[in-house]
Amino acid sequence: MFSKINAFKLKKNKSKIVCLTAYSKNIAQIIDKHTDLILVGDSLGSVLYNFETTRCVTLDMMIEHSKSTRKGISNSLMIVDMPYNTYNNPAQALKNCKKIMKLTKCDGVKLEGGLKIVKTVKLLVKNKIPVMGHLGILPQFTKGKFKSKGKSEKEKKEIVRDSKLLEEAGVFSIVLECIEKNLTKKITKFLSIPTIGIGSSNNCDGQVLVTDDILGLTDSKIKFVKKFVDIKKVISIGVKKFKKEVKLKKYPTTRYSY
Ligand code: KIV
Repeated sequence: MFSKINAFKLKKNKSKIVCLTAYSKNIAQIIDKHTDLILVGDSLGSVLYNFETTRCVTLDMMIEHSKSTRKGISNSLMIVDMPYNTYNNPAQALKNCKKIMKLTKCDGVKLEGGLKIVKTVKLLVKNKIPVMGHLGILPQFTKGKFKSKGKSEKEKKEIVRDSKLLEEAGVFSIVLECIEKNLTKKITKFLSIPTIGIGSSNNCDGQVLVTDDILGLTDSKIKFVKKFVDIKKVISIGVKKFKKEVKLKKYPTTRYSY
């Protein structure tokens, strides 16, 4: 388990690290050839279930989506987000992370936060559970609009402190969400583990985005989201062709019938 994680860590300062989300087998198996890490993100709460916040995502939801996703991954590291309220203290986190690791066969978990979760991270790592950190905007603890983090001196100091604490606690990588670009550069330079940015400039060791966003399946207006393809159009073309053939009684021909 740890050698796959070590291989991931060694990617720092080589070529940029490619990470994306997946919530199911079908998407995971398409993206797996191209990614270094696939995250079963709790963003599935808003992307798939239309929840207003990721706080509504449960451990059982993460387990079921992760089980499906696992079936599509053979190359990338698979990391699962621990949902809100499942890692409030070290003992609770250990119990829930062990459950996730066992049932989903994932390679590690991701937890949001800095100073507050240091003890928890240490306990998980001691129990051989690889942990990815997440600093900057913390969707589980942030209400309202996305604003960048690390502009004020106070925020800068906190983020720098937290990134060092997380590395010391044993995380194998940290997601930096919407952190100001010069601060991102500084953190990426002094940490020996890879930083993975989302809305945190090109100054990270790698990037992560929500796959549904880059494919155009969502209508996200968030500044850092780039739509790389309009998959809705492709789906519409296929569905229209099916509809036409059904209406014209062209489908199914004998070739497609028993
Ligand atoms: O939940 C999520 O998908 C994330 C990201 C970093 C994209 O945490």
